[in-house]
Amino acid sequence: MLVLGIETSCDETAAAVVRDGRERLSDVVSSQVEIHREWGGVVPELASRSHMRRVLPVVDRALHEAGVELADIDLFAVTCGPGLVGALLVGVQAAKALAWAAGKPVVGVNHLEGHIWAIRLAERHPEPPFLGLVVSGGHTSLYAVEGEGDLRLLGQTLDDAAGEAFDKVAKLLGLPYPGGVVIDRLAAEGDAEAIHFPRGLGRKPTLDFSFSGLKTAVLYHVKKNGIPQGRELADLCASVQEAIADVLSEKAIRAAREHGLGRLVLAGGVAANSRLRALVKERGEAAGIEVFLPPKSLCTDNAAMIAAAGYLRHRRGLAPSGLAINADPAWRL
Ligand code: KG4
Ligand code: ZN
Repeated sequence: MLVLGIETSCDETAAAVVRDGRERLSDVVSSQVEIHREWGGVVPELASRSHMRRVLPVVDRALHEAGVELADIDLFAVTCGPGLVGALLVGVQAAKALAWAAGKPVVGVNHLEGHIWAIRLAERHPEPPFLGLVVSGGHTSLYAVEGEGDLRLLGQTLDDAAGEAFDKVAKLLGLPYPGGVVIDRLAAEGDAEAIHFPRGLGRKPTLDFSFSGLKTAVLYHVKKNGIPQGRELADLCASVQEAIADVLSEKAIRAAREHGLGRLVLAGGVAANSRLRALVKERGEAAGIEVFLPPKSLCTDNAAMIAAAGYLRHRRGLAPSGLAINADPAWRL
């Protein structure tokens, strides 16, 4: 079965062709980062307009790179939410129009479930049950994945998402948007123990997270000492990254243990962070929990993960599907 996935929930216009929910035949991501960088974050109206211009050319490229035609596609899968409503609508309308023209079914996918099932496109992937940690620009959530259509929320952030914390700290330091990947790069040269930043709800029994205190601590640090340069900037980045990776990895392992889950899947843009990957692996091994890390291209937003999740939804006959699907900007799993 060939699935065409479409993703337009935020600032990447993406389309991909995936065979049998497992094999990426193409995976096209057109990033709008250059458009939004000037504003220091995603501007919703600019995102919608850019998706409108790009969505069909990106779909064409995905078909071309996969070496297939529209008529070969068996199922269309599209992100219906959560995300920016104007941005989502562009992808949803495109998917419905293409499905109608091709006379094939269309299924709506939750963006977070897409991030989790991205692991099925990796060489090695676990079957449920497993623990899923989704860490992105908009979400920081722990799920017990009991079955293909059975995800139970165990904890989430009460304020900023982990990626948002990276991006806001980067902004305070005058670094370009999106800041996560820049901090990751600078941190490689720094000392993670240089400054001790707060761990939010880190040592508390709850499985929820809080990152707003970290952002405030960095703000005070910068107010007091100015924006650091060179070696000191690297130390600050490494210390911030350590605070975030420490809490995320500790809670993910604890959640897996408390819920008797022996496998852990990392997902979302922040799952590309090198320190988080290393720490989750290290702590997972120590706790006897098998850790699955998707390659970095599958962590950040893409449409292959939407095709993979759509394939599972369709196979199980799950709604929403058909031409009545619509954008749902606040869709909770
Ligand atoms: O999943 P994603 O592409 O989009 C959302 O669904 O939000 O995640 C984007 C987030 C941004 O906040 C970005 O700064 C962060 O992922 N990110 C990283 C890294 N690469 C992307 N954060 C830390 N280290 C990275 N290497
Ligand atoms: Zn995402």
